[in-house]
Amino acid sequence: MTRVPPPIAMLAELTHRCPLACPYCSNPVELARQDRELSTETWISAFRQAAEIGVLQLHLSGGEPASRRDLTALVAAAREAGLYTNLITSGIGLSERRLAELDAAGLDHIQLSLQGTDAAMADQIGGYKGGFDRKMQVAAWIGAIGFPLTLNAVLHRRNLHQLPRAIDMAVEMGARRIEVATVQFHGWALKNRDALMPTRAQAAETTRIVAEARARLKGVLVIDYVPADYHGDYPKRCMGGWGTSGLNIAPDGQVLPCHAAQTIPHLRFENIRDTPLADIWYDSPAFNAYRGTDWMAEPCQSCERKTKDFGGCRCQAMAIVGDAAATDPTCIKSPHHGALQDRARAHSESADAALTYRTAPGKPIPAE
Ligand code: SF4
Ligand code: FES
Repeated sequence: MTRVPPPIAMLAELTHRCPLACPYCSNPVELARQDRELSTETWISAFRQAAEIGVLQLHLSGGEPASRRDLTALVAAAREAGLYTNLITSGIGLSERRLAELDAAGLDHIQLSLQGTDAAMADQIGGYKGGFDRKMQVAAWIGAIGFPLTLNAVLHRRNLHQLPRAIDMAVEMGARRIEVATVQFHGWALKNRDALMPTRAQAAETTRIVAEARARLKGVLVIDYVPADYHGDYPKRCMGGWGTSGLNIAPDGQVLPCHAAQTIPHLRFENIRDTPLADIWYDSPAFNAYRGTDWMAEPCQSCERKTKDFGGCRCQAMAIVGDAAATDPTCIKSPHHGALQDRARAHSESADAALTYRTAPGKPIPAE
């Protein structure tokens, strides 16, 4: 058996509460209620354990992590444990004073989400009136304090035409990086494939715009790019490979190999309240289920790319093929690839599909 390296990065989903209601949210459809969230002390213990086993980077996410009143205390504790801290936020819930406190607590980096490049688009997608103006104010405060900033633009059929402006905005805000992420269909986004699936032409145009901007802005702005995988030929290396370099902790303390792992019904996940993080990472059946390449069937098992993409995304294979051990159907070698591309085309041509907004934890889940 190959030696398992320690994780490098940990995503702490501090809460599923969020003022926005983005239809592409990757949170699970069954959201954790506030009374199931981990306490401050348990999160701090998780951060210390993470640092002890080798984690270097901590991504504080949600929901909206600013919905946690103890956010500053959590950042301070994570820094004390020696972790590099990155806050992934919509900006809503951050005041100038709170940002100054986060700076004093040692927060290293902020990733600010962008739902659109104007108020009409951003507020419609986020389902939050006034959100865009507030976000622009928060961006100005972030710049004034001098936090290193990444802009996270999630793009889909409705807002892909705004990509050039999003890139310009990142430069104007002084961001060092922009993540151009074509929507990935997990969680709530799966309910919105008709409304959000880009067309094949849009996907190709996005790739062209990214290539042009990368050349033009070399040395000014780094552009990370997640292409539209339903329209592609090969899958992405999801999570850097299952149980390979990163882990997630859900708001209720379940420790997950990725943010959508709970959609794989036969896996059982340990909880940080009960089990040491090191035991979960190295020994738990869930983390070992799709680690490495031994679990793979054909065509992955004899494929020359198997250590590059590890067969793609397990959760996508589960959602589309009904088998988490199958080749990700976004791969051209998958027997389901043609059907997936046909479905992608049908989703992308669906006229006037309404957005299904994410609801709040504990609220009824809308029907398909
Ligand atoms: Fe990756 Fe499997 Fe496709 Fe090969 S067959 S490219 S390993 S998903
Ligand atoms: Fe779970 Fe890709 S989201 S493996």
